[in-house]
Amino acid sequence: MNPSTDHAVELRDVSFSYGPSRVLRGVNLEVGYGEAVAIMGRSGSGKTTLLKIIAGLLRPEKGYVKVLGHNLQSGGLNSVRGRIAYIPQTLGLIEGESALYNVLLARASRKPLMFITGLWGRDDVEDAIEALRLVGLNGVDRRRVETLSGGERQRVAIARAIFQGAVLLLADEPVSNLDLDTAEAIVNLMVGLKSRGLSIISIMHDRELALKYFDRVYILDGGVLRGEN
Ligand SMILES: Nc1ncnc2c1ncn2[C@@H]1O[C@H](COP(=O)(O)OP(=O)(O)OP(=O)(O)O)[C@@H](O)[C@H]1O
Ligand SMILES: [Mg+2]
Repeated sequence: MNPSTDHAVELRDVSFSYGPSRVLRGVNLEVGYGEAVAIMGRSGSGKTTLLKIIAGLLRPEKGYVKVLGHNLQSGGLNSVRGRIAYIPQTLGLIEGESALYNVLLARASRKPLMFITGLWGRDDVEDAIEALRLVGLNGVDRRRVETLSGGERQRVAIARAIFQGAVLLLADEPVSNLDLDTAEAIVNLMVGLKSRGLSIISIMHDRELALKYFDRVYILDGGVLRGEN
């Protein structure tokens, strides 16, 4: 992997259908290391589908997907899985569990014994609390996630990506249900992760916020991406 010549994400002519209904019709995209890209488009245009393909959760029927220097089609997913943080539209937080536990989960696959016994190392707990602090959440680590506000829950999901040590953050409409001030604070926080070396691809609805904070903005329309700026 050579950051100067390679891209964090590279898609060539990617197509995808659910049964007979074709959603993506030849998507091309290049995202550099440390770059933040927003994807917009009307509901049902295929944004979540596209993000899941980049996360390796769906396989394209045609085309080429290279993520962090690995071709996902030819078995590269295992090499990069731990370095991709995917925040789904529904956030994927575990209700009934604390903010801290939800952050710690990001290392569950690397530390299965700690996950099973619940006996996390002190370093892990300190790192997780530090990640929560970095996203502006102090003193909420023991709170159950369902008692947090929408914005706070979104911050927990971002803290999880930081704690995971992700290099690529994929966020599906991270601010769609938040008031504008909270949305702007969270986008600012997320795009600020570029300074920690992350590349970010986020689905956005608010055009103004997207244009203000992201390096590039694309619209998914008719199954292809076109640049907005
Ligand atoms: N598992 C599935 N099986 C069949 N069709 C699906 C499936 N998932 C999504 N679709 C369809 O594919 C199209 C694209 O869905 P997708 O979720 O990617 O859109 P989206 O752009 O993310 O929409 P939204 O803005 O509402 O989240 C939609 O018409 C949707 O109904
Ligand atoms: Mg969606």
